[in-house]
Amino acid sequence: KSQFRDALAEHREKALKGGGEKRIAKQHAKGSLTARERLSLLFDHDTFQELDQFKVHRTQEFGMDKEENKIPGDGVVTGHGKVNGKTVFAFSQDFTVFGGSLSETHAQKICKVMEMAVRVGAPVIGLNDSGGARIQDGIDSLAGYADVFQRNVDASGVVPQLSVIMGPCAGGAVYSPAMTDFIFMVEETSYMFVTGPEVVKTVTNEVVTKEELGGSSVHTVKSGVAHDCFPNDIMAIRAMRTLLDLLPSSNDASTVPRKQSTDDPNRLVPSLEQMVPDDPNLAYDIKSVIGEVVDNKEFFELMPNHAKNIVTGFARMDGRTVGIVGNNPMTLAGCLDIASSTKGARFVRFCNAFNIPIVTFVDVPGFLPGTNQEHGGIIRNGAKLLFAYAEATVPKITVITRKAYGGAYDVMASKHLRSDTNYAWPGAEIAVMGAKGAAEIIFRGKDIEKNTQDYVKRFANPMVAAQRGFIDDIIEPATTRAVICRDLEMLDTKKVDLIKRRNSNIPL
Ligand code: COA
Repeated sequence: KSQFRDALAEHREKALKGGGEKRIAKQHAKGSLTARERLSLLFDHDTFQELDQFKVHRTQEFGMDKEENKIPGDGVVTGHGKVNGKTVFAFSQDFTVFGGSLSETHAQKICKVMEMAVRVGAPVIGLNDSGGARIQDGIDSLAGYADVFQRNVDASGVVPQLSVIMGPCAGGAVYSPAMTDFIFMVEETSYMFVTGPEVVKTVTNEVVTKEELGGSSVHTVKSGVAHDCFPNDIMAIRAMRTLLDLLPSSNDASTVPRKQSTDDPNRLVPSLEQMVPDDPNLAYDIKSVIGEVVDNKEFFELMPNHAKNIVTGFARMDGRTVGIVGNNPMTLAGCLDIASSTKGARFVRFCNAFNIPIVTFVDVPGFLPGTNQEHGGIIRNGAKLLFAYAEATVPKITVITRKAYGGAYDVMASKHLRSDTNYAWPGAEIAVMGAKGAAEIIFRGKDIEKNTQDYVKRFANPMVAAQRGFIDDIIEPATTRAVICRDLEMLDTKKVDLIKRRNSNIPL
């Protein structure tokens, strides 16, 4: 028995060393942390329970049967612990062991924690750092990927799934994080692509670096694959802890976090009275409005650099987690386009899946015109946001701060899409289109100035919408926070019965 204890200690030591000192030093030299260092930053002190530390692969090919090639843990550290006191599951790929590549057993370990996370209703986080499919494992590693993908889909909308890309993530490996709810990347050391620069060169003759092809600057700005990036491992993991604190543990409504608020829910915000410029063509930052309204000015923005014409993120109001969506006049005048519609739609669907109320700030002059947008499918993509809002049954509160024009008015959580409460500030304009454009069409170029003024008087205000009941009240901007906090409480017990169906068919 004592012999076994000695052997056990040896196995543990070997597992903790991963790919060995040299490879750990290489990892540190890149500016990266090891799989275990990352987990110790993610979890509250001394709460991590590792699983499957001794698991080894069963590959016989290419010399893999040799003892030195059987590293306990097989390139991924898995387990559970507490993040800010709440249970969270995680897997952290160890680049020092066969480049963190995914073998049959490596995949089994990931599947195990994903299944446990679903069983107990707790979020699951992947810290990705992997050279892809374990080449020596052949198609067993491909089967492993598909097993993980299936677990991602099974867990979708049941528990939050989060990813931090902290090194390579290429080929089939991208599709597991791609299906998770939120993806963070580390600047310079991480990249994601389906085919790497060498394959790109062979097939298309394009010469491109890894960063240009799939670095954090690509995915957080252009492609919208990732939700944010951070200068190093430590900051990315810290941000993940903050995000986790805002999220429910599962789709069980009782897990939506409610903190004791230190910010008075009835706090008036006089600065909002001056926030919107008198000239409807001047921009202002909707994030300033959001910042003033939410608890303690703390807004956790997601995708801050992609499709900036719509703002998405989480905050607390009277201690409750809320999802916030706002058109931002600072970019493209706040128009809806393909990128902002898909960004908004996916966020709204996350909130709905996890019982998070949605607060929408509207200042939208319409959809972005042009062949780029039409040929790119703004019809299909704009429909996503409309569909997502209409389908969402969580509490929905809408505040029109200025413009709400045309079809975009309908889309942005309007009363007609069963928003629960809809408000407008006194300076709001709810109309089919801007006054000048409307006058030009109705009066065919005659007396444009006078006719524009007439149109402004008649329609460039929120009164007609209020008279129809399309908005519930015209509120003073200063009272916005108090009104939203009061409505969130009123809507706490909201219930909606849905018609049974296999799935809706959101235009993808
Ligand atoms: N399968 C098995 N081993 C792998 C691997 C894989 N997919 N990817 C990397 N490794 C191993 C390397 O053999 C190397 O082993 P060593 O430490 O014993 O020398 C170690 O992981 C580190 O890889 P290395 O190439 O030295 O690191 P790098 O930072 O220079 O490059 C990659 C990283 C990911 C770009 C590079 O390893 C690579 O191209 N890997 C293959 C990617 C691939 O085609 N995957 C299969 C398709 S999904």
